[in-house]
Amino acid sequence: MQHKDLICIKHLQLAELEEIWQLAGQIKDKQKRGIPYTPLQGKTLAMIFLKASTRTRISFEVGMYQLGGKGIYLNGNDIQLGRGETLADTARILSGYVDGILIRTFAQSDVEELARYAAIPVINGLTDLLHPCQIIADMFTIREKRGKLAGLKAAYIGDGNNVAHSWLYGAAVAGINLTVCTPKGYEPKAEIMVEASKMADNCRLELEHDPRKAAQDADVLYTDVWTSMGQEGEEGQRLTAFQGFQIDSALLNLAKPDALLMHCLPAHRGEEVSSEAIDGPHSIIFEQAQNRLPVQKAILALLLGKKYT
Ligand code: CP
Ligand code: NVA
Repeated sequence: MQHKDLICIKHLQLAELEEIWQLAGQIKDKQKRGIPYTPLQGKTLAMIFLKASTRTRISFEVGMYQLGGKGIYLNGNDIQLGRGETLADTARILSGYVDGILIRTFAQSDVEELARYAAIPVINGLTDLLHPCQIIADMFTIREKRGKLAGLKAAYIGDGNNVAHSWLYGAAVAGINLTVCTPKGYEPKAEIMVEASKMADNCRLELEHDPRKAAQDADVLYTDVWTSMGQEGEEGQRLTAFQGFQIDSALLNLAKPDALLMHCLPAHRGEEVSSEAIDGPHSIIFEQAQNRLPVQKAILALLLGKKYT
C-alpha cells in the first residue's frame, strides 16, 4: 500500500486492494490450518474508540495479537483526549510509543488531523462519514464467493450513511455496478456521489428510491441500520421514513436466484432486515463478519510492517 494511512477507499488503487485481499486470503488459510503468521512481533497499535464496537475492536485487537503484536484499547474517556488534549498533540505523543493508530470517532476531520500529525499509520475504524475497513472486508467476501467483483450488480438498500459512502468508493475502484436505494432525504452525500462517479470508469453508480427496482436482478443485496451511532435522537422519525425499505424474502425474490445478502452488523432484526432473511439461505452475513479478522490483519501487516522513520 502506498499511503501511510488508511482513511478512505478513494485513496487506494485497485492493485492495492488486490494486495490486501491476496494477503487476507493467505492469512485466512493460515488461520484455518493453525499456522502462525507473526510479522508484527514487538509492534503495538493504539485503538481509540469514541463509539461502541464489537467487530472492529475485536478483529483489530485479536488481529494484532495473532500477528505477534499488541493492540491497546483506549476508550475516549480514559485518555486525555476526552479532557481536551488536542488530536495533534495526541498524534505526536502516540507516534513515539506505538506503531499505528486505529480510531473510531464522529468527525472525519478527526481522522485526517490525527493522520496529519502522526508519524505512524492511522486507520479509520469508522466515522460518521466513512467505514473503509468494513467495505474492504466485504469486497473480499464477495470476491471469495463470486471469484470476481467487476461487473457484478449490487444494491445497497437503506440509509445513505458511512457504510453507503464507503460502498460507493469501493464499487468505483472495484468496478461493481452499485445502486444506492434510500428514502427521499436520506441519500448519500451529493459530493461523494459525484466524486465516486468520476472515479467509476468501468461501472455505474446510481441512486434509486424504489427498493423493488434496486433489488431487481442484483447479485448482492446489502443493508445497514437505519439509525447510526450518534443519530439516536432521530430514531422515531427514521423508523417512519424507512418503512418499506426492509430487506425480506419478497425483496430477495426479485434479486438473482443465487443473490448474496449482506449486512455490516449490528442488525436491528425486523427493521432494515427481516430475521428470516438474516437466517435464510441467501445470507452470508455471519461469514462476512468473520472475514473482518483476516482482512483487518492484512491491512495491519501491510501498514505496520513498513518503516516510517
Ligand atoms: N460492522 C462493524 O463495524 O461492527 P462494530 O460496530 O461492532 O465494530
Ligand atoms: N452505520 C452504522 C455502522 C455500524 C458498524 C453506524 O455508524 O452506527
